[in-house]
Amino acid sequence: MLIKIKKSWQIAERDATPENIYMNRRSLLKNIAATTLATPFIGMAHGALAQQERLQLAAIRNEKYKINREMTPEEENLKYNNFYEYGSHKKISKAAQKQLKPRAWQVVIDGLVQKPLTIDVDDLIAKMDLEERLYRLRCVEAWSMTVPWIGFPISKLLDLVEPLSDAKFLRMETFSDRDMASGIRQQSWYPWPYVEGLTMAEAYNDLAFLVVGAYGKQVANQMGAPIRLHVPWKYGFKSLKSIVRFSLVKERPIGFWEEISIQGNNSEYGFWANVNPEVPHRRWSQATERILHTGERVPTMLFNGYGEEVAHLYSGIKDQSLYT
Ligand code: MTE
Repeated sequence: MLIKIKKSWQIAERDATPENIYMNRRSLLKNIAATTLATPFIGMAHGALAQQERLQLAAIRNEKYKINREMTPEEENLKYNNFYEYGSHKKISKAAQKQLKPRAWQVVIDGLVQKPLTIDVDDLIAKMDLEERLYRLRCVEAWSMTVPWIGFPISKLLDLVEPLSDAKFLRMETFSDRDMASGIRQQSWYPWPYVEGLTMAEAYNDLAFLVVGAYGKQVANQMGAPIRLHVPWKYGFKSLKSIVRFSLVKERPIGFWEEISIQGNNSEYGFWANVNPEVPHRRWSQATERILHTGERVPTMLFNGYGEEVAHLYSGIKDQSLYT
């Protein structure tokens, strides 16, 4: 049953628009949290809302990240996803809608930090100035989208916990609750949980973005509710979904796909995974990509077109594995 809650503070539905400066977001988020916590009945209704009728989020478009590529229609994005926790195909949306319970959701930030933190995702969101950024997403499988994400840079999360100087990497982890994901139960050979990592320099780069919304609303389950990563200069598999833990660590984390590559004794997926048209995947070329909603083939761009912002992170490193 779909229970609709309409509040006076809910803003009008929209596609991403440049002049979207709306109402006071903090009071909106406080209202969301209050609604969720106030009564068990509303809490249940909110669970249904989060899956089918996501609450709207107000955020200011950051014009710095405007790109001249047409936005992928939301309907396309909602029905074509990679989320192995719900199956190893693209049509996982129904399973994710039904099974994933994105609220209440605790996020842990720990490891080599001054102030470890465990926080409810809505309390975390309430601490942040949300912005909207139009980013390209380039999957390693050679398809691409352009998505109006809403969120905040990872650096803002790190500011809350004050990393220690010996922290060298940020390790991130997706939930691994078998009861919430049929793909985990059915594909027990995969190295769950889905883990990914970034160097501290990458994590502090302003492009590295934690996503809590898309298309003006809370992020949909199949896109990684309630909080996911998007690092647009890397292949999409680096941008893990439905994150429960951020840990500051000394050793380089081994990602989900890298672990699979190690176990399979091949070098299909590495740690860096920076987009590069000249370095093919072991089984296909990366020279071009297919724009998902038009089917058009276009040339792939080095660093997915974000070289100006990130190339300096890798200057002097000549290792081919930067691009796998
Ligand atoms: N995160 C988790 N936890 N599980 C996954 O299977 N797939 C990745 C990434 N994040 C994946 C994940 C891959 S391969 C891609 S291309 C993007 O999510 C796709 O994001 P989208 O479905 O929102 O387009």
